[in-house]
Amino acid sequence: MDTQKVIAALNKAVTLEHAATLQYQQHALLVNGLWRKVFTDFFEGQSKTALSHAHTFGQKIVSLGGVPSVEIGTTVHQSTDLEEMLQQDLALEKEAMQAYLEAHALAEGNVALCSMLENHIEGEQEDIEELEMYLGMVKTKNVEPEVTLRRVK
Ligand SMILES: [Fe+2]
Repeated sequence: MDTQKVIAALNKAVTLEHAATLQYQQHALLVNGLWRKVFTDFFEGQSKTALSHAHTFGQKIVSLGGVPSVEIGTTVHQSTDLEEMLQQDLALEKEAMQAYLEAHALAEGNVALCSMLENHIEGEQEDIEELEMYLGMVKTKNVEPEVTLRRVK
């Protein structure tokens, strides 16, 4: 394993997690409409998750002898349209997934790091699938309010 190449690959992922932290936070602020509360909570949760991922791999970079990046790895996109937000988030999650897959390929031979990355990649895949599910719901207009009024006697 080329440690310097692995550190660079992990740092790429860290910078994308920084971008995701900000992008999700911005989407939590901008989302509006009837489903605002639901998606505000979702986006805020994803923002915290992205920050925790940056922290986790920052620690790993330090343990490998490197310095974690403080850069933001890509443009932070924003929108006031929920479908567009979800597309922006999905694109960023897929970019981060590529960075983790590249780090995993470079970490061959380091069983602990490979295992850590495999577990992490599994979680990232779940995030991608959750975003795809929400995007599908928004596209097919299944995110509609279900209002049940209780009769007051
Ligand atoms: Fe992540």
